[in-house]
This record gives sequence, structure tokens and C-alpha cells, in this order.
Amino acid sequence: MSNMNYRVFDDSQQVVEALAQSLLEYSEMGRPIHISLSGGSTPSQLFSYLANADYATRIQWQNLHFWWGDERCVAPDNEQSNYGQAKALLFDHIQIPAENIHRIRGEDFVAGEVIRFTEEMYDTIPDSEGQLDQGKTPAFDWILLGMGTDGHTASLFPGKTDYETTEIATIASHPESHQFRVSKTAHLLKNAKRITYLVLGASKASVLKEIADNAPAAEAYPAAKVRCEKQADTTEWYLDSEAAQELA
Ligand code: 6PG
Repeated sequence: MSNMNYRVFDDSQQVVEALAQSLLEYSEMGRPIHISLSGGSTPSQLFSYLANADYATRIQWQNLHFWWGDERCVAPDNEQSNYGQAKALLFDHIQIPAENIHRIRGEDFVAGEVIRFTEEMYDTIPDSEGQLDQGKTPAFDWILLGMGTDGHTASLFPGKTDYETTEIATIASHPESHQFRVSKTAHLLKNAKRITYLVLGASKASVLKEIADNAPAAEAYPAAKVRCEKQADTTEWYLDSEAAQELA
């Protein structure tokens, strides 16, 4: 019995249309909504769609605040920048207040940026009771996460993730490139009201099957372990048919 709450769409276009509709609904809720975007290549299709569809003008962007699950320690105009990708594909094409974009400053000294990013989240995002309280963990309304073929998510990598910390941001490094990253911690991610793993393409199919089958290997996968920890909250997987091809 799979322990994954997943939705399979015929193709990636249908996935991004469903995500766009969610953004529209969030934007109409009449309060600031805090959304954390995933990095890597997968979300580029979502950004391009939002910039070019009628959603670009229908979504009330002034009600949406965008953050990132992680950022590479590079300048914002570097092609590897998660923020830089979203800016080029989406933010430069819509009307959204600059103060609603909460990028991680990848160009800055990483230890100092972890502190700054942490403080900005505590100062800006209410906890799960809707209170802005320094001591309480911020509760994102919606966190979009990707997954690597090794089961990592954000910049939380197998064997290199601290699941016990109560910090909300941390320094990480890519296991192969050793590139430094700033990442949200498992503790913060798990405090979200909604987590959507956006996973597309055949290359992710075998890892998804291991997670769905609770395979022993999946024990080490952060993408298998990071879920909303409160029962009332939602952890879900949005998959295209290629990514879901090995699932029952
Ligand atoms: C990053 C991401 C990372 C990404 C996965 C999937 O900064 O790289 O946050 O967790 O979501 O590696 O990447 P792709 O979408 O490129 O497969």
C-alpha cells in the first residue's frame, strides 16, 4: 500500500496548469500568502506558463510572497541561480511588488546569509496559529519541492541532512560539485501547511517507486522523509505520466 498521496497528470502541461490554478486561488484569499519555490530545472515550465497564460493578469500577485527552498551560492545573474531563473522566466513578465520577492542572497557570505534569511522568515511569516512570534516556527502556506534522482529535496541530501535541528535554514553543499547552498531545514519544511512535490520525467520514475513501496533504500531519501508533520496539513506529489510510469 503506497503511503504517497500522488496525482498523476497526462503530461507536464497539465501539471503546471493545476499549479497555476492553485496560485490563482491562493491570490484570492485576501491575505498575504507565503509560497516557497523549488529550484532546479523542473519549475521553469511553470514559470514560463504563468508568464504567458492569462494567469499573468488574473492572479493577484500583490497577495503572493515568493521564497525559495534553497539557493545555490552564486550571484543572482548566474545561470545556476534559482532566483535568477524565476526572475527571467516569470517575475520580469508580471506586475508583482519587489518586496514580495524574498530571494536568498547567494552572492553573500554563506554563514551570514543563513542568519539573514532566518531572521527575514521569522520577521515576515506567521506561525501555524497565524502569529508573528520570534520563537515559533514560520508556517509557509505552500512549499513546492523538487526531487533529485538520489532522493534529495531542496538542498537536503541523503546522509547529509540533520532531521533533528530546530534551525529553519542551514548551509549545505552538493555531494558531487561541493557547491555551497543555503537551504531550508527539514524542520521548517515539515511545518508547512501544504507541501507539493513537483516531479516530472522518466528519470525520477525509479526513485518514486522506491518511495511509494517504502523500499529500504528510501529510508535515506530526504524526499521520502520531509512531509507536513501536522495531520491536518497536506503532503502531495504532482507527477506527469513519465515520472509515474512505475507506480501502480
Ligand atoms: C536545486 C533544487 C533541487 C531540485 C532537484 C530537482 O536547487 O537544485 O532545489 O532540490 O529541485 O534537484 O532538480 P531538477 O528539477 O533539475 O530535476
